[in-house]
Amino acid sequence: MDKIIIDGPCRLSGEVTISGAKNAAVAILPATLLVNGKCHLENVPDISDIRATIKILKSLGSKVEYITRNELIIDNSNITTVEAPYDLTCKFRASYYLLGALISRFGKAQISLPGGCNLGARPIDQHIKAFEKLGATVEVKRGNVYASTKNKLSAGNIFFDVVSVGATINAILAATLVPGTTTIENCAKEPHVVDVANFLNSMGANIKGAGTDVIKVTGVEALKQSSSYAVIPDQIEAGTFMVAAAITKGNILIKNCIPKHMEPITAKLQEAGAEVTEFEDTIRVSMNDTPRPINIKTMAYPGFPTDMQPQICTLIAISKGTGMIIESIWESRFQYTDELIKMGADITAHGRTAMIKGVDTLYGCPVASHDLRAGAAMILAGLVAHGRTEVYNVHHIERGYENIVDKFKKLGAKIEFVRDNGRDENV
Ligand code: UD1
Repeated sequence: MDKIIIDGPCRLSGEVTISGAKNAAVAILPATLLVNGKCHLENVPDISDIRATIKILKSLGSKVEYITRNELIIDNSNITTVEAPYDLTCKFRASYYLLGALISRFGKAQISLPGGCNLGARPIDQHIKAFEKLGATVEVKRGNVYASTKNKLSAGNIFFDVVSVGATINAILAATLVPGTTTIENCAKEPHVVDVANFLNSMGANIKGAGTDVIKVTGVEALKQSSSYAVIPDQIEAGTFMVAAAITKGNILIKNCIPKHMEPITAKLQEAGAEVTEFEDTIRVSMNDTPRPINIKTMAYPGFPTDMQPQICTLIAISKGTGMIIESIWESRFQYTDELIKMGADITAHGRTAMIKGVDTLYGCPVASHDLRAGAAMILAGLVAHGRTEVYNVHHIERGYENIVDKFKKLGAKIEFVRDNGRDENV
C-alpha cells in the first residue's frame, strides 16, 4: 500500500509556492463546458481530482491539451454526450458541477450521485432546488441524477435554505446561458465561488454580486473563447503550510497566496502565538514558543474554514492548555481524532464537538488518512511527533495537494513517498 513516511520532529524553514485552488479548479473545468470553443487555463493544480475531472470531460467529447503541468487548453466544441460515466463521477463530490454546466448549454445532463470525502450526510437537495427553479426536471434514481428540460430553461429566483458552496456555483452555471436575470439569495461567499464567476465573466457572462449573499446572473446567448484565465491560489493548501510553520516552531515564507483569503486562519494562528506577516501575495509565518490553546468554530466564509479543522486540531493537540472545536458544517468530521490519539494526543470528540487537551509530545506510529484534510493533519502530526510516522490511505491526500511531499522536503522535513509497484498513477 502507498504510504508517506515522516521522521520527526523537525523545524521547517524556507519558502513554499502554493498551487492553484482545488475547489475553484474542479468547478472551472466543468464550467468550460458552457463554451462552444476553447478555454485556456493556468495555475490548474496537478492533483488526482483534476485528473479525474479531465477524464470525465474527455469522455463527454472535450479535447484537452496540456501546455505545461499546470496550464491547459480545453476545447468543448465537439461534445458528443451529456451522460458522464458512473465509474468516474461517483468518485468525487465536485462531479455535481457537470449538471449545472450541461443543463445550461444542452438542456439535459446525467451523472451518478457524487462521492467525495466521508464527512457525514452530503445532500444535493439545494442543487436540485436551484435547477427546478429554472424550469428543469430532476430525477434521482438508482444512484444516478438526471436533469432535463422540455422547453428551454427560464430565469428564476432561487433562495437557498442553507449556505452551500456547491449549490451556489451550480446555480450560477445553470443560469449563465438562460435568458433573463436569475437572482440567487443566501449564497456562499467562498473565494472559489468568486473565482468561478470571474472566469465566466472573463468569457462574456454577466454575473454580479459573487462574494456577497445575493448573486444576479443575467443570461447571455453564448460565451466567447477566453484568452487565458489563471485559477486563484489554494486557500486550504496555504493554510496547511501556515499551520506547518507554527506547529514545527518554524519560519516559512508562503508564496502565491491571497492574504485576504487567509484572514480567518491568520487570526487564529496569531491568537495561538504565531507571528504572521502579510505581503502582497505572500505570507510569512513563524513561531518560537509552544502554541497557546485556541477555540474554533467552523463557519462558511469568511468564517474559519471547515477544511482547516483537522490541521488546526493538530496544532491545539500540542498546545499548553485545553482548546475546543465546534464543527458547524459537517456532521461527522472528527473520525481522524482517533489517529491523533494513537500518536498520544488527548482528544474527546462527540458529535460536532471536540475537546483537546494539549500534550507535551506526540509519538510517531502508523496512522490512516481518513479523508483529504485529515490526511494533511496526519502529515502535520508526523512532522512534530518523535520517531517515525507512516501515513496510509494517501490517495485521499493526492486528491487535493500537489507535490506535498516534495514541498515539505524542501522545507527541511524528513519525509518520503513510498509507492507500491503497479500503481495506476492516473486515478
Ligand atoms: C465544498 C468543498 C468542501 C468544503 C465545503 C464547505 C468543494 C468541491 N468542496 O463542499 O471541501 O468542506 O464546501 O466549505 O468545493 N448542504 C445541504 N444541501 C445541499 C448542499 C449542501 O444541506 O444541497 C449542506 C451540507 O450538508 C453542509 C453544508 O450545506 O452541511 C455546506 O455544504 P456545501 O457548501 O454544499 O459543501 P460542498 O459544496 O459539498
